[in-house]
Amino acid sequence: MEVRVLLRRHLCMHLWAHDSRETEWVSDSEPIRLCFVCLGNICRSPTAEGIMESLIAEAGLQTRIEVDSAGTGSWHRGEPADARAIAEATRRGVELRSRASTFRTGDAHAYDLVLAMDHTNRFDLIDLTPEPELRERIFLLRSFDPALSADDPHDGSVPDPWSGGDEGFATVYDLIEAACIGLLEHVRTTMLIEGHR
Ligand code: 4NP
Repeated sequence: MEVRVLLRRHLCMHLWAHDSRETEWVSDSEPIRLCFVCLGNICRSPTAEGIMESLIAEAGLQTRIEVDSAGTGSWHRGEPADARAIAEATRRGVELRSRASTFRTGDAHAYDLVLAMDHTNRFDLIDLTPEPELRERIFLLRSFDPALSADDPHDGSVPDPWSGGDEGFATVYDLIEAACIGLLEHVRTTMLIEGHR
């Protein structure tokens, strides 16, 4: 995954240098890189990746923000997203194209923000990230939802829908969408400041 990310980053930098239409941002700046992480990388994080890709495209920021996803477990490596996650996303007009990959020790250095779906994912990511300064890139995705409250029924997590029914996938989609809208606003206002990056 790391090599793929770095290659894509290199390609984007190359294309960016030659894209004269993009005059609004600093021309030699690198894209902001986001990685969504859950356990299996077949339900929640691919949904987050697809939703964020769609929001970024709507905002016309495809050259400025890159998204990726991974799992802390490797059982499903190479598989497409779960059919129930694909069905829910399709119903909402979003395509899930990712193939499952595994988040490995040191991968955090390839991203600006690493977004965990639940508390266990976050703790596992911290274990996979020995460097204290890189650990600061790891957040719970839902911490970016402006409507998240102290008495949240899911304790600030996106609950694992894998062993449940279809309705769990609709809930997961709603939670992720609200958080991704807040996340895009955060990236836009604090990370994509003209002249900064
Ligand atoms: P995800 O859901 O972490 O949202 O992709 C899961 C998918 C598979 C498994 C667990 C959670 N599993 O144990 O195989």
